[in-house]
Formats: sequence, C-alpha cells, structure tokens
Amino acid sequence: MQPEFWHERWRANEIGFHRASVHPVLKRYLPRLNVRPGDSVFVPLCGKSIDMRYLRENGVLVIGVELSELAVRAFFDEGAITAEVSREGPFSVFAGGGFRIFCGDFFALEAAQIKGVSAVYDRAALIALPAPLRSAYAQHMTGLLPPGTRTLLITHEYPAHEMQGPPFPITDEEVDALFGASFAIDPLEQRDVLVEEPRFRERGITSFFENAYLLTHG
Ligand SMILES: C[S@@+](CC[C@H](N)C(=O)[O-])C[C@H]1O[C@@H](n2cnc3c(N)ncnc32)[C@H](O)[C@@H]1O
Repeated sequence: MQPEFWHERWRANEIGFHRASVHPVLKRYLPRLNVRPGDSVFVPLCGKSIDMRYLRENGVLVIGVELSELAVRAFFDEGAITAEVSREGPFSVFAGGGFRIFCGDFFALEAAQIKGVSAVYDRAALIALPAPLRSAYAQHMTGLLPPGTRTLLITHEYPAHEMQGPPFPITDEEVDALFGASFAIDPLEQRDVLVEEPRFRERGITSFFENAYLLTHG
C-alpha cells in the first residue's frame, strides 16, 4: 500500500477500520502485557484509535506512529488533548497528555525514538499491509524492540479469494514465519466475528475470524 492510499482514506473519511469503542481484546489481555503505570506502550500505525486513550487510562504512556497528519490531529482534537508539535528527523511529533505520536512512516522510525517501551499493541497494523510489507514490518519491529518486550497482536483470517485487502488475512503459519525466529508466540484466542462485521459480510465474506497472540521478544 502506498502512503497515498492511506492519505486518501483519511481525506475521504473512509475509515471503516476505526472503532467507536475500546477493542474487547485489548480489555481482556492488557494484563498479559505486564505493564505498570508509567511504562510506555508502542502503538504502530495507530490511526486515531481510542484504544490509545484506554491504555492511558490504565496509567501507561503511549507512543504511536501514524502516516496521516489528519488522523493524528483528529486524535488529539477528539480527545480534547492539547499537543505540542516538534520536528524530529522526518517526523512531526505531537506530544501531550501522556501521548507522543510520531507523524510519518513507521519504517523510518529508529529504536532510540521508542527507547524504553515495555510493550506493543498491534491492532489493524500488520493486517493493513500487503505481504511484502508485512515481512518488512516484522523485521523492522524486531530491530526496534528490546528483548523481553511483549506484543499484543490482533489479526484476521478469511478466505483470501473473497476480498482484496486491506485488511489482509493472516494465518497462524504466517505469524510463525514472520515472528517465530525472534519471538515466543502464545496464541490467546480465535473468535468468529462475522456477525459483528456487517461491512465484511456485505463484501461477500463467508467466514471472518479474529485471532489474538501474545508475542514475547526473546
Ligand atoms: C487499518 S488502519 C488502523 C489504525 C489503528 N490501528 C486502528 O486500530 O484504528 C492503518 C493505519 O496505518 C496507517 N499507516 C499505513 N502505513 C503506514 C506507515 N508506513 N507508517 C505509519 N502509518 C501507516 C494508515 O494511515 C492507517 O491510519
């Protein structure tokens, strides 16, 4: 997916991926990330997800990265949070209220910029990327994270021929191929969510599963 694809999604407000409520998987499994108040959680490809506010309400600091400045500004505006904007290399950095969001390309982010993160929350980040970028994402993420970091990863699985992503379907085998060499992978749950996803039923999808994993960087 080219950056322009996402900029256009945000400009046209075609953001069906954005949720109005906190993701139930985050609520269920936040304790498994073992974060303590004051720790930092990294949220890649964060959009304007209100899950970041939930993380903050649980006492952690949030570091995000997002291509779209529209999304980043909307996140702060909708939460009535004042942000200070500064420049850091290729990024505009929006900081305020315990949030620090790098506006720019995830692949340009350097380990020093997210130094000290204890955990990662990936909802609709990996699955937003086509296959070649998923490999690059896993590789880049591996290099960014210190050993011991835990990731809560949420993916989807559906018959690949039934829809063109994003979101892209990802199997257990692919999660293993992407992360198995550097992370311990603990499958947490698999749920059939087709009934909760009218936008995918309408696109002709006949089965839609949501999978959650805990990845621990070795
Ligand atoms: C499917 S959305 C998910 C947003 C958010 N995680 C959520 O749950 O609502 C994917 C987001 O990733 C952003 N994005 C795509 N490629 C990116 C990249 N290379 N670097 C940073 N953000 C990116 C898009 O602009 C979009 O907001």
